[in-house]
Amino acid sequence: MTHSLKFPAAVDGVAHETVSILGGTGKLGFGLALRLGRAGYTVCIGSRDADRAQSAAEEACALVGTDAVTGCLNEDAVASADRLVIAAVPFLSHVTTLRSVADHWRSGQVLLDTTVPLATAVGGRPTHLVEPWHGSAAQQARAAIPDHVALAAGLHTISAAVLRDMDRPLDQDTLICGDRHAKTVVTEALDGIEGLRVVDAGPLEMSRLLEGLTPLLIGINIRNKTHAGIQVTHLHARPMPEAVTA
Ligand SMILES: NC(=O)c1ccc[n+]([C@@H]2O[C@H](COP(=O)([O-])OP(=O)(O)OC[C@H]3O[C@@H](n4cnc5c(N)ncnc54)[C@H](OP(=O)(O)O)[C@@H]3O)[C@@H](O)[C@H]2O)c1
Repeated sequence: MTHSLKFPAAVDGVAHETVSILGGTGKLGFGLALRLGRAGYTVCIGSRDADRAQSAAEEACALVGTDAVTGCLNEDAVASADRLVIAAVPFLSHVTTLRSVADHWRSGQVLLDTTVPLATAVGGRPTHLVEPWHGSAAQQARAAIPDHVALAAGLHTISAAVLRDMDRPLDQDTLICGDRHAKTVVTEALDGIEGLRVVDAGPLEMSRLLEGLTPLLIGINIRNKTHAGIQVTHLHARPMPEAVTA
């Protein structure tokens, strides 16, 4: 079966594409739903529980002032996505979640994996990582999804708390790595989020390093009582946050 995987035509400058989020009821996923909803995307919040997804979607719609956030089971979220599915579930349930949706992908769809293998999954510290057998959580994802699904990893350094605080400009970068097609789709989608710049960090094997940035930042955040992100200097221009341009 062939499917059109182009972005639906932009209407009034807003791309009416459905982006789905596995674990969209959680901290990172819900924050992303808000920011993507505000950017004009139709967002499908996925969950293991349809009622939980539905109430998260209603809350997101109220916060964003849209009716374009919906909720459903994770497998239906994959089926609903035009091109992009974001995995935002804990490391402990990463493989289980990906396997649970394995039969619902279409060729050409893209998974953006945000998983960080924090040692908290095994009772350790949030400033430590565990090393997955495959080398990284993203490489573990590669082994758990069908070959016809392109894969990128990113958003590891974006704080859920900052995403959730919609009055606060993001004003930061996210480093992404993975397949070329996946990075193109992810960059197009995330570029719609105000104040976020996507920086290409190379092939999927770089995910080991990107995932390792999170415990580093968590330590900085604990010491400084903040939710810091990262910026790469001397690259192409960053989108200016509203607070700066106003
Ligand atoms: N939080 C952050 O600031 C942040 C930043 C960067 C990256 N990340 C990464 O993003 C991912 C999600 O983090 P989070 O803080 O958003 O996690 P979370 O809130 O603890 O969980 C996210 C969602 O995953 C599902 N889930 C939880 N436990 C599960 C289990 N045992 N089996 C299956 N599904 C389960 C739940 O959805 P349902 O119960 O509705 O199915 C939950 O709402 C992690 O891999 C993390 O490393 C997080």
